[in-house]
Amino acid sequence: MNGRCVVTGAAGFIGSRLTRLLLVEGWDVVGVDAFTDSYDPTEKLARAEALRTHPHYRHVTADVAECDLGAIVDGAEVVFHLAGRPGVRDSFDIPVKYHHDNVVATTYLVAAARRSASVRRLVYASSSSVYGNAPLPFTENGPTAPLSPYGQTKLESERLCLEANGTDLETTALRYFTVYGPGQRPDMGLRRFAEAALDGRPIRLFGDGTQSRDFTYVDDIVRATRQAADADVAGLAVNVGGGSRITLNEVFELLGELTGGPVSLQREPFARGDARHTGADLTLARERLEFAARTDFADGYAAEVDWLRERSLVTLRSA
Ligand SMILES: NC(=O)c1ccc[n+]([C@@H]2O[C@H](COP(=O)([O-])OP(=O)(O)OC[C@H]3O[C@@H](n4cnc5c(N)ncnc54)[C@H](O)[C@@H]3O)[C@@H](O)[C@H]2O)c1
Repeated sequence: MNGRCVVTGAAGFIGSRLTRLLLVEGWDVVGVDAFTDSYDPTEKLARAEALRTHPHYRHVTADVAECDLGAIVDGAEVVFHLAGRPGVRDSFDIPVKYHHDNVVATTYLVAAARRSASVRRLVYASSSSVYGNAPLPFTENGPTAPLSPYGQTKLESERLCLEANGTDLETTALRYFTVYGPGQRPDMGLRRFAEAALDGRPIRLFGDGTQSRDFTYVDDIVRATRQAADADVAGLAVNVGGGSRITLNEVFELLGELTGGPVSLQREPFARGDARHTGADLTLARERLEFAARTDFADGYAAEVDWLRERSLVTLRSA
C-alpha cells in the first residue's frame, strides 16, 4: 500500500498516464487540472473522466496559481508537478499566460509544499528546451540558453523548485526530451505529421527536415517520473531522454512505411524558438534514477499511429 500523492496537470498527456500508473501501484491520487485552453479541452476532460472512474482518484478542477493549495497538498507524501503551458511557438504570442501557468503556478506550489508537514518530495516536469542550441549532448551542468519564452519559464520554474530543496522538502527537476506516444498533445509535431499522413494531406514542415530530436516514449517518461519520487536525485536537474537522436527526414520515411505510402511535404522556413538538435546526456539518469529508455522510436511511433487510427475510427463511428 502506498500513501497519498498529488499530480498537477493530471488531465494532460503525460500527467494522466502517470496518474494511471500511480493508481495501479495503490496510491490515493489527488489530481489537479484547470483544463486550460492550450489545446482543445475536450481531450483533457475525457482523460479526467476516465480517471474519475477509479475509486482512489479525486479530481480538483482548479488553477494551481489561484487556489487553496494547502488543502490540496495536505496529507500528501509526494507532489508530481506536471501542470504547465507547453509548446514553444505560442509562447512568443502569449508570454503572460506562459508566465502564469508555469512560473506563478510553480511559485505557489513550491511554497505550499514547503509549508506542508506531509510532503517529503516535489518532482517537477522541466524541459530540454532550457538548453536551446547548447553543444550536444546536453549535460545538466552545461550551459542553458532557452530560445523562447516557454524555455525561459521552464528554466525559471525549475530554479524555483531546486532552490527549495532542503531538509524539510526534497525537490528534483526532470528535463523531459520531446515526449510522444498514444495520447500525445494535438499541437506536437509527431501527432500533426501522422494525422496529416493518415488523412492524405501534405505535412507542414518547418525547415529542411535535417533537425533532430531525442524523442522519448511516454511510458519511459512516466517510469522515470515515478522513480524520481524515491531515487537519489534530491536537489538535482536530471535529463530524461529516449537515448537516440532522429532527424525529421527519418521520421517521414518511417511514417511512410507505417501509413502505406510516401508522405508529401509542404515546406516552410524554420520556426523561431525551435532548437536545431536535441540530445540528452543520460549519465545522471542512469546512475541516479536507474533509468534507461525501453521503447525504441520505430515501435513507439507505430503505437502512436495505431492510436490515431483507432481514434479516427471512433470519431467516424460516432459521427
Ligand atoms: N510533452 C513533452 O514533450 C514535454 C517536454 C518537456 C516538458 N514537458 C512538460 O511536461 C508537463 C506535461 O506536458 P504535457 O505534454 O502532458 O502537456 P499537457 O498540456 O497535455 O498537460 C498539462 C496540463 O496542465 C494543465 N494546466 C496548465 N496550467 C495549469 C494551471 N495553471 N493550473 C492547473 N492546471 C493547469 C493543463 O490543462 C493540462 O491538462 C508540462 O509541464 C510540460 O511543460 C512536456
